[in-house]
Amino acid sequence: MTLEFRQVGGCFVGEASPIDLRTVHDQLTLERIRAGMDTYGVLVFRNQLFTDAEQLDFAQRFDGTLHAKTSAAVLTRNRFGNEALTDISNVGADGKILAGDDRRRMSGISNRLWHADATFEDPPGRYSMLSARVLPPVRADTEFADMRAAYDALDDEMKRSLEGLRVHHSIVYSREVLGFNFSQEERDRLKGAVHPLVRTMPRSGRKALYLASHAAQIIDWPLPEGRLLLRDLIEHATRERFTHAHIWQPHDFVIWDNRCTMHRARPFDDKTYRRELRRTTTLDLPLPAAAH
Ligand code: SIN
Repeated sequence: MTLEFRQVGGCFVGEASPIDLRTVHDQLTLERIRAGMDTYGVLVFRNQLFTDAEQLDFAQRFDGTLHAKTSAAVLTRNRFGNEALTDISNVGADGKILAGDDRRRMSGISNRLWHADATFEDPPGRYSMLSARVLPPVRADTEFADMRAAYDALDDEMKRSLEGLRVHHSIVYSREVLGFNFSQEERDRLKGAVHPLVRTMPRSGRKALYLASHAAQIIDWPLPEGRLLLRDLIEHATRERFTHAHIWQPHDFVIWDNRCTMHRARPFDDKTYRRELRRTTTLDLPLPAAAH
């Protein structure tokens, strides 16, 4: 049966018709998923029974090289021994829930800030894929914002004024806002990356705001003015009409395009309930030839 998508969010987010992604190897279906990503920005696949190895395989089959320097990897070692498999969970290597003041928990709950993955790196993340393995009995949603719709809604004068602006993204900045401290060695290592504030999606030609909590400063602008503009734009882009909350079901697999969406984890009682997901993120490198 042909893979199809139906829109489930107000202006973006598609849900796929039944499919087992572990068995998808043909270029035609992989291209249909990529085309779905172009349209919806976020795709939800239900009932995906991935093992870690199968998830890693699928992510590379779909979009190439995996990111291994994501925010969790930058701050702590991961319990799977493979930094390309990001541990989105509130448990330690022994499977027990992390203590309230554990640095790994602090790093995890930083995902509650609106962000796109690895914008503090160059190349940054392109597609992120999150697989639900253990879910709490309470809601613990992931919320998404459509940065193309947010761009489209700006007036022409604002659009013109943003053209050509470049932004410095830094994990030191986003984590310091939350109270983390960094040594001089860490600061020297985590220099961040510069990206355009407005990106044009290469296949659809649509423009998107490229923002994240890591967005520290507009290059060549005075500090307060640059930060204020970034703050205003994030506030604009995360208005209800541009956002969608994904309510997790067991074995959901959600793919999002970091070039045109932001996301954040919503709080839940993480000192009582386990929540375990695995994330794989591909690098925003030139597209595979078959995808042009
Ligand atoms: C993430 O930011 O990648 C994870 C979001 C979540 O835990 O809901």
